Amino acid sequence: MTEQSQVEVYWHNHSVPREEREALNTNKGCVVWFTGLSACGKSTVANLVDHKLHSLKKHSYVLDGDNVRHGLNAGPGMLKDEHGEEFAKRFGLGFSAQDREENIRRIGAVAKLFSEAGVIALTAFISPYRIDRDRVRKTLKEGDFIEVFVDAPLDVCEKRDPKGLYKKARAGELKGFTGIDDPYEAPRNPELVLDAGTKTAGQLAEEVITYLKSKGVV
Ligand SMILES: Nc1ncnc2c1ncn2[C@@H]1O[C@H](COP(=O)(O)OP(=O)(O)O)[C@@H](O)[C@H]1O
Ligand SMILES: [Mg+2]
Repeated sequence: MTEQSQVEVYWHNHSVPREEREALNTNKGCVVWFTGLSACGKSTVANLVDHKLHSLKKHSYVLDGDNVRHGLNAGPGMLKDEHGEEFAKRFGLGFSAQDREENIRRIGAVAKLFSEAGVIALTAFISPYRIDRDRVRKTLKEGDFIEVFVDAPLDVCEKRDPKGLYKKARAGELKGFTGIDDPYEAPRNPELVLDAGTKTAGQLAEEVITYLKSKGVV
């Protein structure tokens, strides 16, 4: 038996073109990529945007730590059954530089598929490295990658610290924590910057909706 080689894996052109999928919807598909320090408000704002879009009868979906680190990228100890555990050991992702890079690559690939299905994919990951975010941007058509910098100063995030992660990082119990002993590279040309240190999450979500309307996404 010969192993299936890469050349035998063909890309199937979708028989339903993306435009026709979108014509059934009242929104275009795209990726709204939230990035920022831990506790800056990515998950809160992404979920508020999701709710607002849903109430406007738009199709959206949030990709966040929970549905990615517990599934697609689950590392050891995250998947309950033995079979899952074995997979997690072989293919699961941790927090090394290499694993973080692959984490973002997979999330980007999944978000792209969502967008091609006509859904507004809202991703909420720190995604601290510019090169990783730019790599995702390059996989998408112009206008389909909307980078949203959730900009809250480190001291504000550290004060919020809902999961006590900054405290642990300061105490040296967590190594390589973004903003403490690992860098956060702010986007140079994001589509949108949210002033997350002073405005409420509701105001910020409204700014995202306004942006999406201005670009004809919804
Ligand atoms: N604009 C905001 N103003 C004040 N507090 C906020 C704001 N956005 C989020 N929060 C609070 O900050 C904490 C961290 O928010 P979260 O969305 O979990 O951050 P992230 O997903 O970026 O780590 C939560 O307790 C949340 O309620
Ligand atoms: Mg979050």
